[in-house]
Amino acid sequence: MNYQKDRDFLTDHVRQQTDFSRTDQSLGLPMPPVQKAPKEGQKPISLPDWHGVEKDLPLSALIAARKSVRKYRNTALLLEELSYLLWATQGVRQTTGAGTVLRNAPSAGNRQSLETYLAVFRVQGLEPGVYRYLPIEHALVFEHTVENMESALNHACLEQPFAGQAAVTFLWTTLPYRTEWRYADASYKVIAVDAGHVCQNLYLAATAIDCGTCAIGAYNQTAANAFLQVDPDEEFVVYIAPVGKKIHV
Ligand SMILES: Cc1cc2nc3c(=O)[nH]c(=O)nc-3n(C[C@H](O)[C@H](O)[C@H](O)COP(=O)(O)O)c2cc1C
Repeated sequence: MNYQKDRDFLTDHVRQQTDFSRTDQSLGLPMPPVQKAPKEGQKPISLPDWHGVEKDLPLSALIAARKSVRKYRNTALLLEELSYLLWATQGVRQTTGAGTVLRNAPSAGNRQSLETYLAVFRVQGLEPGVYRYLPIEHALVFEHTVENMESALNHACLEQPFAGQAAVTFLWTTLPYRTEWRYADASYKVIAVDAGHVCQNLYLAATAIDCGTCAIGAYNQTAANAFLQVDPDEEFVVYIAPVGKKIHV
């Protein structure tokens, strides 16, 4: 097997070979929006203040307790807890003068190409279905319902059953053009790294509210995109993580 070409993706060679004078940003094309706008008729659902939901644990305890959890209690999450998980993963830290926002996870060049979708099974105050997070408003928009959502999501996750047994499953897409606008071919490694930061924040935040999660990198790309009804030419799933209350034995 010759892995050399694929390994190169992880090196800095692609960036070094990129002609940054020819990127869309350098050519003066407009900056892509920092988050997808709600569709016509989608009314933002404000997320509540989450302060008070965290266990009082130091970061070292959260790191030490973090592990992949694939079995969950059948308990609903509070909307405050979901609000906290969304804040921790993609919440906005600061608005910049340049029309961009800094979020609670780092991103190469602050290009922030990720969108957060949720398959909500059991969250107090939300009907089951697919939602999307609006980081700037700290709100959700309802996207659609999925028939037999548990089995559809399990199918999209290659029959890993915990995907559909969670209280809520996070599905992150990328809109790669947000990053390509500045970094062209050098975008793909950093988009993958960006997603890793977000999921690690989810692991730690979930641990802080007695929940567990497990990163899912093995999924059916076509089925996952179809589950979210995204146009795969513009936007596609890169990472998935179910969340539910931990089972204590
Ligand atoms: C990029 C990535 C993809 C992963 N994909 C899956 C997956 O598809 N299914 C799964 O059960 N676990 C998956 N995991 C979880 C790993 O198996 C887990 O992190 C590893 O076994 C170490 O265990 P720990 O997280 O409890 O420390 C993934 C983890 C990462 C970081």
